[in-house]
Amino acid sequence: MAHDLSKRVALVTGASRGLGAAIARRLAASGARVAVNYFAGREEAGRVVEEIRRGGGEAEAFQADVREEQEVARLVDGVRARFGPIEVLVINATGPQPHVKLEELTWRHCLDQLEFFVKSPVLLAQAVLPGMKERRAGRIIQIGSEVFEQGVPEFSSYVSAKGAQLGLTRSWALELGPHGITVNLVAPGWVPVERHLGEGANPAAMQSYAASNPLRRMGTPDEIGDAVAFLASDAARFITGQKLSVNGGRTLA
Ligand SMILES: NC(=O)c1ccc[n+]([C@@H]2O[C@H](COP(=O)([O-])OP(=O)(O)OC[C@H]3O[C@@H](n4cnc5c(N)ncnc54)[C@H](OP(=O)(O)O)[C@@H]3O)[C@@H](O)[C@H]2O)c1
Repeated sequence: MAHDLSKRVALVTGASRGLGAAIARRLAASGARVAVNYFAGREEAGRVVEEIRRGGGEAEAFQADVREEQEVARLVDGVRARFGPIEVLVINATGPQPHVKLEELTWRHCLDQLEFFVKSPVLLAQAVLPGMKERRAGRIIQIGSEVFEQGVPEFSSYVSAKGAQLGLTRSWALELGPHGITVNLVAPGWVPVERHLGEGANPAAMQSYAASNPLRRMGTPDEIGDAVAFLASDAARFITGQKLSVNGGRTLA
């Protein structure tokens, strides 16, 4: 067990697959009681929960659309009823991330990304805040991306929303620090998950991406989970407002 999160209550949004599932497994392996949020993937979320339980951990699946205020309220109430107040909030969920040329970009494309990376974080943070303030403790961990450091052609709706997420992180760190709550952002590089593998996989793009970072390989979902578990742990108690890049040194800011 890398970090001791014994009995801490953690909510991971979008944890039915991809990085969220790995983060949920990592937090549970460190002793946390983990709420596995999903949107459409009930069976997948069920499998993540089963796997955690088979390993001796505690987890439960919770369906909710994290872009909707009432659903977020229902989600947070449900987790509180099952496990107790949320102590670690991991804001991870994402919808489709289309590449769109500027000429074809609509406000709707931008809003679709802002709903995941601004609206949803605001709703989630507001829902857990009263409990965290009352206990004068809490960890909010956002999953951002390295793309904001670099810009990506034909991807500006996603990249700008990821930048906004970093702005929320820094501002909330200043606002919530006096209440004993830390807010940080983990910025992964390209970490292949289910949607990058199998049909539509692009091994040449992966090879070239791997060659572009100092460690000369792709990252793994577990490595993102490790960074989140660290930020959730007591070892990170004096760290707030930070972006932790987990990308083999591909960005240096
Ligand atoms: N993988 C990468 O290379 C990479 C790199 C940099 C940053 N990131 C960031 O890491 C995070 C996770 O990315 P990922 O690649 O792991 O994504 P993913 O594999 O596509 O998984 C997305 C997750 O979000 C959930 N979700 C979708 N819509 C939702 C909604 N309305 N409400 C609640 N949950 C919803 C999905 O649930 P269902 O399947 O149940 O619908 C799924 O569990 C994102 O913030 C992404 O921007 C990823």
